[in-house]
Amino acid sequence: MDIREINIRYREYGSMEQLSPEDRELAEAALKAAGNAYTPYSHFNVGAAIRLSGGEIVTGSNQENMAFPSGLCAERTAMFHAAAQYPDKAMETLALAAIQNGELCPVPATPCGACRQVMAEYQTRAGRPMEILMVGAEKIWKFSRVDDILPLIFDSLRTQ
Ligand code: THU
Repeated sequence: MDIREINIRYREYGSMEQLSPEDRELAEAALKAAGNAYTPYSHFNVGAAIRLSGGEIVTGSNQENMAFPSGLCAERTAMFHAAAQYPDKAMETLALAAIQNGELCPVPATPCGACRQVMAEYQTRAGRPMEILMVGAEKIWKFSRVDDILPLIFDSLRTQ
């Protein structure tokens, strides 16, 4: 028996001003997209913005429904929009930001497991890493690839 370790490195920034101009633009687009969330049940407004390999920025926000499972997270709304609209473009960076009680959450919101799995598949499809930028008011976290937020990604169908 061996003990194995998985180490994850990520960057932490103290504010949007510390980001590169591209990442800052994307963070601001995610924050703006949160304004279009439809959240009568959770009142938790999430925005996502994706930079594509052609430079386009595609956004999404969470859309809820009275039949709860019918709603969708901001990240998947944005990814499905991007894939439907630009199937040949890689998703280079996905930024997300959450607003609660009218304020950008101090600690970044982190994507749910289902969204991570969808990110993983589009990353594989593109054949290049997708960066994830989680934007909070006091902290911003940047991960270089989906593997870092979803270790041991399910892709057994591909490898068999
Ligand atoms: N939500 C997102 O849109 N993205 C996340 O990363 C976490 C959760 C949404 C789903 C639901 O509309 C609300 O936030 C509360 O869970």
